[in-house]
Amino acid sequence: MTVVVPLLYIVAFGLFILGLSGLTGPRTAVRGNKVAAVGMVVAVVATLLTVRHNWLLILVGLVIGGALGVPSARRVRMTAMPQMVALFNGVGGGAVALIAWSEFRTTDAFAGEPLYVVIASLFGAIVGSVSFWGSLVAFGKLQEILPGRPLGLGRAQQVVNLLLLAGAAACATSAAIGGAELWMIGLLVLAAVLGVMVVLPIGGADMPVVISLLNALTGLSAAAAGLALGNTAMIVAGMIVGASGTILTNLMATAMNRSIPAIVAGGFGGTSTAPSVEGAADRQVTATTAADAAIRMAYASQVIVVPGYGMAVAQAQHAVKDMASLLEERGVEVKYAIHPVAGRMPGHMNVLLAEADVPYDALREMDEINDEFPRTDVALVIGANDVTNPAARTDPGSPIHGMPILDVDRSRSVIVLKRSMNSGFAGIDNPLFYAPNTVMLFGDAKSSVMEVTEELKAL
Ligand code: TAP
Repeated sequence: MTVVVPLLYIVAFGLFILGLSGLTGPRTAVRGNKVAAVGMVVAVVATLLTVRHNWLLILVGLVIGGALGVPSARRVRMTAMPQMVALFNGVGGGAVALIAWSEFRTTDAFAGEPLYVVIASLFGAIVGSVSFWGSLVAFGKLQEILPGRPLGLGRAQQVVNLLLLAGAAACATSAAIGGAELWMIGLLVLAAVLGVMVVLPIGGADMPVVISLLNALTGLSAAAAGLALGNTAMIVAGMIVGASGTILTNLMATAMNRSIPAIVAGGFGGTSTAPSVEGAADRQVTATTAADAAIRMAYASQVIVVPGYGMAVAQAQHAVKDMASLLEERGVEVKYAIHPVAGRMPGHMNVLLAEADVPYDALREMDEINDEFPRTDVALVIGANDVTNPAARTDPGSPIHGMPILDVDRSRSVIVLKRSMNSGFAGIDNPLFYAPNTVMLFGDAKSSVMEVTEELKAL
């Protein structure tokens, strides 16, 4: 057994890394996910081989976890995937916090434990608890149980957060020097409040960065727990999640022109509450029809499709592909502009469009396509809102000011497909809708696109 378990762990790590490399491209992503899942099964089996007691408890845990996890993962709609990821991620952090607490109890307040085990356990307890409660708030915001706008204490926020962190560190020190269990509980509670306080003031548009940051934190806390328990699988898996989550957080923050400390400090965005759509009533929008939209696009030389979260909600991707094929048959050049945070998860639009067999080389990233808008006849915005909001460029008071956007407003004309004048995830008004070169085609994106396609056929 002494040789078998490390060997199985090595097989599992190989599969994790192979799986992760598969996740770097849409064509290999599904296979990559399956390979990593097999790796996790191997790691679980190897860990179970080392267990000498508590089989019943482990079985009960597996049954409860499986009964909750499998059906919810099977049933979840694609549009609800980000909150599911936030929840699953948070559960990982919560598990690490509980492991640290149980270590404290079973080792009689870390009596005789090496210093690195004590530090790793307490680090895991703080970070795991922050990650669990922070992820719950992120889940609440994405699920729209909590408002997406920043909810904070303004300037006092940073002081409160620092005090909470200092309090948790003080409790950790007392627990480490053999203090009572109350210190451990105090640490978990203060870290929980800190997790809530850090995520509540983060505005809708910054949520992608915070979700990947929480993901990275969960990975690091799991690696710390692995160190405390002497479990190599947890160390390696935790470090893979921690490292890849950190890289992703950095990439997202760069793409959004945000600094991670500024997002976490909660002071970003100029205002602590997002302006609402009130006041929009006195401005005029121009509504249009499917027939008019079809004519505008049929006689264009280039159309850029700008998909957003609404395309995912409407599941309009196949209809969009059919419409684009018709336009291409008429000699219109059709491209797709992909914003790094369009939708609700990284690569959301890429996945949907790949599912509809849109050729990958028709997809253009933001930096690549932005220069093309001024010489584009029609920008067709399909359920995208925040990622096209020119206030990010022009209004220093806007919560999304500084975030790079797709410059659709610079096109010769813009057709926006959405159901109403409702705001997007950031909860803010979009001046694009009132611009003289914009027309609105109201309705469900899939129905609207299908109507436009019928009109195109009739031309
Ligand atoms: P949003 O700004 O959220 O706007 C989506 C728009 O789609 C809404 O204004 C909505 O307007 C419309 N819509 C919804 N259902 C529709 C349907 N069935 N048919 C037609 N339109 C529909 O989306 P976005 O532009 O893609 O921006 C993404 C936002 O989410 C950003 O703020 C981003 O920071 C945030 N976010 C992104 C991620 C990642 S990683 N991508 C993760 C978390 C948060 P109506 O209700 O009027 O139809």
